Amino acid sequence: MSKKSKFQRPAGMHDVLSGNQRYFQKIYNICKNIADFYRFQEIATPILESTELFSKGIGMTTDIVQKQMFTLRTKGGDYLTLRPEFTPGVIRAYIEHGMQNLPQPVKLYSLGPVFRYEHPQAGRYRQFNQFNLEVIGEGNPVIDAQIIQIFYTILKELKIKNLLVEINSIGDNQCRPYYKKLLTNYLKSRESALCSDCRRRLRENPLRVLDCKEDKCQRVVSQAPQIIDHLCEECHRHFKSVLEFLDEIDLPYHLNPYLVRGLDYYTKTVFEIFSIEKEKTEAEGVSSKIALVAGGRYNNLVKLLGGEDIPAVGAALGVERIVNLLKVKSGEAKEKEVYPVFLAQLGNLAKRKGLKLLEDFRKAKILVAEALGRDSLKAQLKTADKLGVKYTLLLGQKESLEGVVIIRDMKTGKQEIVKLGKIVKEMKRRLKK
Ligand code: HAM
Repeated sequence: MSKKSKFQRPAGMHDVLSGNQRYFQKIYNICKNIADFYRFQEIATPILESTELFSKGIGMTTDIVQKQMFTLRTKGGDYLTLRPEFTPGVIRAYIEHGMQNLPQPVKLYSLGPVFRYEHPQAGRYRQFNQFNLEVIGEGNPVIDAQIIQIFYTILKELKIKNLLVEINSIGDNQCRPYYKKLLTNYLKSRESALCSDCRRRLRENPLRVLDCKEDKCQRVVSQAPQIIDHLCEECHRHFKSVLEFLDEIDLPYHLNPYLVRGLDYYTKTVFEIFSIEKEKTEAEGVSSKIALVAGGRYNNLVKLLGGEDIPAVGAALGVERIVNLLKVKSGEAKEKEVYPVFLAQLGNLAKRKGLKLLEDFRKAKILVAEALGRDSLKAQLKTADKLGVKYTLLLGQKESLEGVVIIRDMKTGKQEIVKLGKIVKEMKRRLKK
């Protein structure tokens, strides 16, 4: 066990050590390739934005704004917040750079860390990475279906199994106020059966009660009026079309009339993609849902943040949650680094020659492992053995003076002397075989 160090990483934040980097790289590569195919352009916005952008964009009564923002005051007295998600920053950039004057829709992807002051637990961190897509300037329902399709494809390419797509429509300014009234009346009649958080939500944002995980609240919610029965004609038609497009591409989905989402900007379509996992610790048959992707349409946000009346739709994927699934799948199997050659040296002159030789190999794109700081030949050969290299190059004092190097075939033990100036070419020839 390592000694407890004086400083530890902040709660809910993680060091990504070298052994885990490959999972992140794999996810990023697949996400970027698919985003490129669909002609999304990358946008990188600042990690810090004005606090007001998030409170206005996400909504004052949401958990993110009320409890989860990392906010600081600058020396100049401004309030800035570490982005808890990408969407408000991307829309701010769209407006600030006049992107409404570009051919629409503008399709943007982003990748990077976001920060939420949440209670840290498995799969829930205070710093995590998202891959985020936004399509701004297009209201057609085919785009809602396409966003779901793109994320579903990403998860399939990552070979994530047991996917569940849940979808709902939460209406718009036309129909939602009436539904909110109906829901509030219903919830008020059952207020005593709700948890204390939901009693507060009932006054501030009754739709959020539908999202509560408490058993007693879910019992109340299961009898609540459903927004789907109260959509206006336009929202109804839009939602029907989204579902028809999904049917057309055989993308399986489950209608969840109580899916609402914890951000206030959504209008019409909302969706989440889960992985269904059998709990290892609980009795067999018990399963849990891990939310991997979430998003939806948000037709009012551009205007709310000072832009024109422009519709948009998007979603984000939680990178660490996928990393966790990939790690379980690969059984944490460590992939061996594949270095075909090891350079072992002995003596100061050999170290000098070795330093130059390594650069020649790098230019020739041949991977060579080394331990230049070591003096013991035995220790170096042990390392070469551990790495499982095909060849070890031995460069001692004598060889350095004579301008040669010994090639040892690690499998047969056969040794051969080659001129230093010809070694790169010779290794290229041997490794090609
Ligand atoms: P969100 O549902 O807040 O949506 O987050 C998207 C995904 O980020 C979640 O499905 C989950 O995989 C991951 N995630 C969320 N919180 C955590 C956490 N504490 N630790 C680890 N992973 C987490 C949004 O962020 C919206 N901006 C999506 C969007 C884009 N809607 C329209 N455009």
